[in-house]
Amino acid sequence: MPGTELFGAEERKEINDVLETGILFRYNHDAQRNNVWKAREFEAEVCKLVGAGFAHAVSSGSTAAQCAMVAAGIGAGDEVIVPPFTYVATIEAALMIGALPVFAEIDETLCLSAEGIRKAITPKTKGVCLVHMCGQMADMEAIMAVIQEHNLVLVEDAGQALGARYHGTATGLWGKTGAYSFDFFKIATAGEGGVMVTNDEPAYQLADSYADHGHDHVGSNRGMEQHPIIGFNYRISELHAAVGVAQTRRVPLIIEKNNQHKTALMNRLSEVPGVAFARIPDPDGDSATFLNLLLPDTETAKRVVDEFNAAGIGGFNYWFTNMYHFINQWDHIKEMRTAGKLPIEILGAPQDYANLDLPQSQDVVGRLISFGIRCTWTPEEVEALAGKIGEAVRKALSVEA
Ligand SMILES: Cc1ncc(COP(=O)(O)O)c(C=O)c1O
Repeated sequence: MPGTELFGAEERKEINDVLETGILFRYNHDAQRNNVWKAREFEAEVCKLVGAGFAHAVSSGSTAAQCAMVAAGIGAGDEVIVPPFTYVATIEAALMIGALPVFAEIDETLCLSAEGIRKAITPKTKGVCLVHMCGQMADMEAIMAVIQEHNLVLVEDAGQALGARYHGTATGLWGKTGAYSFDFFKIATAGEGGVMVTNDEPAYQLADSYADHGHDHVGSNRGMEQHPIIGFNYRISELHAAVGVAQTRRVPLIIEKNNQHKTALMNRLSEVPGVAFARIPDPDGDSATFLNLLLPDTETAKRVVDEFNAAGIGGFNYWFTNMYHFINQWDHIKEMRTAGKLPIEILGAPQDYANLDLPQSQDVVGRLISFGIRCTWTPEEVEALAGKIGEAVRKALSVEA
């Protein structure tokens, strides 16, 4: 959790700025707020960090993903190609706006592959929600070729990849719209929060209105504002935005430290037979929040997990069985258990979610073990962890299957 590792005086100062005015609402109250506008400042910091033309801060990464989809023109009945390996919020966001998720294959980048996207395209496909997983980035060149060839709209859920880049362009800015999460577990946190980004001004305007009951935010009298569209309340509070301001400023340093640790771990572990790593399409653009090990097969990965547990090694995720980020754990979606009927229940699901055939995704996630990288690790701690991981893997591989 690198963002929270560095929580300190800067965050407290930003929060105090808000507490001193007492204006916790991001809009209006111009006279009382003493020119303190933390949500605006947060958006400006995110634009500066990633190079976006526009950013709109909201209450979570989940609502940012939803705003990104809506602002890209995705709505009820549109098929959207999604990965089976993502935080479930990506899928929920599509379902909430009435879109129809179509699951496609990921590859060793841990993200949708160009080939996977191509095979999932139907005449009803409106777009792709690409998710950049585990701090890395998708294979953008190949993916953009498919997007352009088929005239699809691209939305990026970069909830786990703030600050990552592919050939210089930030994740989140390849498509029409993108989204970042600032929840408690991310490279930068606002406590709870999210930011939608785009270089398309009309898309930004849509997100800005959609996230606040359709308000156009023109003038300084909220009661008299116009409502160009129907929206809802996905607003971020000034207190959360204040934390986001301080944390976003820390991201370049965190990425530098993370990369030092990840490179050291990869160098040491590449000597261990049986250890490979998730493919990083642009290693220079990695945000390096995770070290992503790929074992030879699922059974070996499970034995390695057992060895880690036996040796008391923590700080890793085995997404295949232990985490809420893979389709195998999404029974509620497979069974379409809903509180109130969703549009998909009327429109019809485009796939049989309970019986999907995604062998490549099953293989990759079955082999994947990810260690969260802490930016405050010392070189000695990194060396000790590499030693422990190597020893556990050697033990697991020496056991006959
Ligand atoms: C890829 C991805 N998208 C969306 C989200 C949702 O973000 P939040 O927890 O801020 O709603 C997450 C959170 O883990 C995520 O990893």
